[in-house]
Parts: sequence; structure tokens; C-alpha cells
Amino acid sequence: MSTPTANPPAVEARNLYKVFGRNPKAVVERLRSGESRSDVADAGSAAVIDASFTVERGEIFVIMGLSGSGKSTIIRMLNGLLPPTAGDVLVQGQSVTRASAKALRGIRQRSISMVFQHFALLPHLSVLDNAAYALEIQGVGRDERRARAREILDRVGLGDRADAMPDELSGGMRQRVGLARALTAGTDILLMDEAFSALDPLIRREMQEQLVELQRELGRTIVFITHDLNEAMFLGDRIAVMRDGRIVQNGTPEEILTDPANDYVAQFVQDVDRARVLTAGSVMAPPAATTPVSAGVRGALRVMRDQQVGAVSVIENRRFLGTVTDRAVIRAVKDGRTDLRSLVRAGRPAVHVDDPLTDVVERAVESPLPVAVIDDAGRLVGTIPRVTLLAALGDVPPVTRENPVIDLPATVPASEIAQTLAVVDDRAGAMAPAGRAAPPTRVAASDHRPVTEGAAR
Ligand SMILES: Nc1ncnc2c1ncn2[C@@H]1O[C@H](COP(=O)(O)OP(=O)(O)OP(=O)(O)O)[C@@H](O)[C@H]1O
Ligand SMILES: [Mg+2]
Repeated sequence: MSTPTANPPAVEARNLYKVFGRNPKAVVERLRSGESRSDVADAGSAAVIDASFTVERGEIFVIMGLSGSGKSTIIRMLNGLLPPTAGDVLVQGQSVTRASAKALRGIRQRSISMVFQHFALLPHLSVLDNAAYALEIQGVGRDERRARAREILDRVGLGDRADAMPDELSGGMRQRVGLARALTAGTDILLMDEAFSALDPLIRREMQEQLVELQRELGRTIVFITHDLNEAMFLGDRIAVMRDGRIVQNGTPEEILTDPANDYVAQFVQDVDRARVLTAGSVMAPPAATTPVSAGVRGALRVMRDQQVGAVSVIENRRFLGTVTDRAVIRAVKDGRTDLRSLVRAGRPAVHVDDPLTDVVERAVESPLPVAVIDDAGRLVGTIPRVTLLAALGDVPPVTRENPVIDLPATVPASEIAQTLAVVDDRAGAMAPAGRAAPPTRVAASDHRPVTEGAAR
């Protein structure tokens, strides 16, 4: 809302230190010279050590780490509740560290609000007045603040509980009120410290999904603290992983999962629900076995012969049309059909690059074909064979790197592909149907019953 200069980041932490103890500055000097938290334990408690990061507007930035790693201390420095021992915090370009008490109050009212783990609702106020509370502090009139609070309560699914008192609500509902209160305040930045940790798993999952949705709709910036890696991975556009006061890695969930900075992070991510975090785009291989629809069954057969694959992706104007299998092509040729378009199993095993692996798994279960990955324009940008999918889910490297796309191996012998290709080539040359290959029965193009003649073995 209040933008002092041209688009500064939402939050910037620059070399932040927080040391509790008698001579914190001296401890900072020791930390700067490379000593660790335990090295300086005799002189003080080093809660946060040299933390630097930037939170861009509109992103969910997660700070993750085990208990005691320094997460809450960092978040309290972001809104000025705790002064850093060294370093600086900027909120929308304005220094929190050097702000006067009055300026700081202003920042807290206009720019940054906080959602706590234990809701911190006012027990004597209704849900509506709790949700409107921040506006009351801002001096907004009763009618207007209630109207705005109602709108937000609707958003978080509590529209019909506006008149209830906090003690009449479940934990999940109370946390929604806490969230509504922070959202109603209208600040660009929300700080959430273990906001969902007290909720039971199903409600927690629901809240995570709702938060992502709200954030998309409202475009707020969120700094979210959690010690739960699955939660971090699901929510975070970026995640800072903390250990013993230091940020040991700062990256996207995918970077952290696929390229952990050290053994500590690697161990941490071992148990992550990869299917929920990784996207199709992060595990796909480049599309290899493709043919333009204009190349007809001949083109498809050539790719099958040359690459020894049992399925080929058919492309038209760079868009993905679908996939054909060797069996379908051979059968069609026997039927005297050569129009590749009619053989394509339309769009079927395709996912969007940004889809989570859970969606890919669904497709892979439906069909043995490698799952095609398409972009917004419907262009084929990659393919995910089952082996690759299993490797990604299990975090084991694919067995072979040279030819990762060969997943659906040829289901008919190479000799039969070559034979069929010869038939098609003949026809193309002679422009005449090749004698013996034309049984009278028609088979629907989409039919995928195996062709047994010749393929049996
Ligand atoms: N006021 C204080 N005085 C002394 N030590 C403190 C103080 N506040 C925090 N610490 C220490 O700083 C370290 C980091 O604490 P912090 O509360 O930031 O961790 P956290 O990551 O939020 O942990 P949790 O997940 O348990 O909430 C801990 O070792 C803690 O004991
Ligand atoms: Mg904490």
C-alpha cells in the first residue's frame, strides 16, 4: 500500500544476528570470525547468526527448521518486536531496525501483521469483532470495519459464525478467525509463526490449501514459519532452512528437494511427500520419440524402428495431439488405414508442466504410455516414463541416463515394425494397396485391444 520507493522487496534481512547474553556484541564478533553457536555458548545464546534473505512481494516465504533453530527470533525481528544485535531489517524499503517507536507502530499497523500459533483471540469479543480488531486499532469506524471483517470471514468460510464467541469454536475455526483478523488488517505482509501447528492433520491440510488460495486471490506477502517440512514444501514459493541459528539453504522447494545444500538438508528432505511437491516439469525428460502428424503412419513407424520404442508422440504445429502405439499402427496398416490423426489416442496421458506428481501418478495408472507434459499453449515440452516417475517418487536415480525416454518398450518385434514399414513404403511407392493386408473387419481407431497375429510371443 504505502510504497516509498520504486518497488522495493517486501522484506529484506541483512546479516541479522540475535544474541541473548551479557555482552551480545562481543559474541557477534566471535560468530563473525567463524565460531558456532556451541562455541560461544559460554558467553551467550546465539539465536540467529548472520541471516540474510529477501522476500519478494506476493510470495510465500517459509522459514523452516527444528525447534530452537531460531525461526521465531527471526520473525520477531522482522516486525520490530525484537531489536537485532547486528544487521538490519527493511520492510518495503524502510528500515525497521532504525525506525522510531512511532514509525514502528505505523509499520506494524499498515504493513505487517502477525498470526500466532495459539490464535490469541480476545475471548470477550465475538468472531466478527475479533476479525475487525486490527481495524479498530487503526481507528476505522464501526460499520466499515465490520463490513470489511464480514467480507474476510466469508472468504475463510466463517461467514455464518460471525456472531459466535471464540469459546464456541473448534481449533480450526479459531485459527481461521486469527487469519481473518490478520487479513482484515489489510497489511501487505503477514507473518505466521507455526500458525497451523496446533491443528489436527486434516484441518491443517485444509488450512494450507486455503492459505495458498487466499494468497493467490489477495496477493499478500506471507512469511510462514514451520518445523514441518511437508508443510514448508507445500506452501513455500521459497524456503529458508535453518539450523542452529544459521540459514543453511534458501531455495525453491524443488531445489531443496532435488539439490540439498548439505547432508543435514538431505536428511531432512528424506521423508518428504514428493508427489505433493515435485511438479511434472521438474522430473520430465525431453520428448524424444515424436513425429509430426503430417508424416503419417510411415513417420511414426520410422521413429519406432529407429528408436525401438512402442509409442510415439504425435505433434501438429508444435502442439501435442496424442500418442500412438506400435500395435495400433500395425493394426491400422493391416486394415488399410494410413491416417495417423485418426489413430492418435487423443490428448490422453498429458499433464501440464506445473501439475504435481500426484496428477502424473494418476495418469500413469490409467495408461502404460509415458505421460506427455504440455505447456500453456498445448506444446509438448517433455515426457515422463514410468521409470522416471518411480525414480522421482523414491528419490533413486534412474537406471539409465542415456535413453531415459524408452519406457514403453516395443511391444511387437522389431521385424514386424520393419515389415509393416515396408508395406507402407510399397504402398506409397505404388499408390496401390498391398495385397494380403486387408481384413474386412473394421476396428475403431481408439480401440486398443492387442493385435495378436505376429505380435504373439
Ligand atoms: N529471550 C531469550 N533468552 C535466551 N535465549 C533465547 C531467548 N529467546 C530464544 N532463545 C534461544 O534462541 C534459540 C532460538 O529460539 P527460537 O525461539 O527462535 O527457536 P524456534 O526455531 O522458533 O524454535 P521452536 O520451533 O521451538 O519455536 C533457542 O536456543 C532459544 O533457547
Ligand atoms: Mg518458535
